[in-house]
Amino acid sequence: MLSPKSKGVIYRLLCEATLSWSVICHFALILVWKVSRLIYTNSGLAILAVAANAVHKLWKWQRTDNNSTGKATAIVIPQLWQPTSGILMTNDVSGANPEDAVPCFALSKNDSYVMSASGGKISLFNMTTLKTMTTFMAPPPATTFLAFHPQDNNIIAIGMEDSSIQIYNVRVDEVKTKLKGHHKRITGLAFSNLLNVLVSSGADSQLCVWNTNGWEKQTSKHLQIPAGRVVVPLVDTRVQFH
Ligand SMILES: *[C@@H]1O[C@H](CO)[C@@H](O)[C@H](O)[C@H]1NC(C)=O
Ligand SMILES: *[C@@H]1O[C@H](CO)[C@@H](O)[C@H](O)[C@H]1NC(C)=O
Ligand SMILES: *[C@@H]1O[C@H](CO)[C@@H](O)[C@H](O)[C@H]1NC(C)=O
Ligand SMILES: *[C@@H]1O[C@H](CO)[C@@H](O)[C@H](O)[C@H]1NC(C)=O
Repeated sequence: MLSPKSKGVIYRLLCEATLSWSVICHFALILVWKVSRLIYTNSGLAILAVAANAVHKLWKWQRTDNNSTGKATAIVIPQLWQPTSGILMTNDVSGANPEDAVPCFALSKNDSYVMSASGGKISLFNMTTLKTMTTFMAPPPATTFLAFHPQDNNIIAIGMEDSSIQIYNVRVDEVKTKLKGHHKRITGLAFSNLLNVLVSSGADSQLCVWNTNGWEKQTSKHLQIPAGRVVVPLVDTRVQFH
């Protein structure tokens, strides 16, 4: 029997990845149904996952006879990749409450860094060596969503359990500004390159739009659930630009 948590994980796998069933089952078996988050790298050459035990896994598609480009495909099963150092990419969990932890991560635009949190401090990893470059932002409040500024990798937006959003400069280790407008945990953050805005979503069913030049709030809106629709408690609101 699958626990409700496992069912939620399967649901996320199906929603977030456009993979074939055989490939999904392959991942699920390796991680014993404990995948918390799963993303494609920007290059489309690999898949990065973080499991409930705060350990990351990276799968890369190899250049083979079946796939000369080495790009993501549903036909060929990618290989679990581990650096020769044997290092495991693991998030800090000190001060974290594993039951309530909301694992989250984001990749920099050129796939050089990943920042990730599993309820403890945020870790910044080098994607080539998988080594931890730095850790910051000890809870409480815990981090619930992360996003890189599209023009400057050093600037990140951190969504928090306490409903605030911190705009943080990683290089100088400094909070530039704190955005307040939500009333519950932050569930999604998305920067727009063209519009110079950051859009945030929260567990309060609110969407806020922030100007990335001065960080003032431009507008906010409450999501309306159409009459007759049932709200699924496991599903968080996310925001994304295309
Ligand atoms: C490898 O995968 C890519 C992406 O799915 C596909 O376009 C390409 O045809 C594949 N290569 C071979 C040799 O099958
Ligand atoms: C490539 O395709 C052949 C025939 O479909 C299959 O037997 C083989 O296992 C595949 N190799 C890889 C690496 O996926
Ligand atoms: C990726 O971006 C970072 C920061 O902008 C830069 O330092 C690094 O050299 C880039 N890496 C690659 C492989 O382009
Ligand atoms: C990651 O580590 C490699 C190897 O030490 C180094 O060449 C590269 O510059 C590092 N990347 C970043 C983004 O610091």
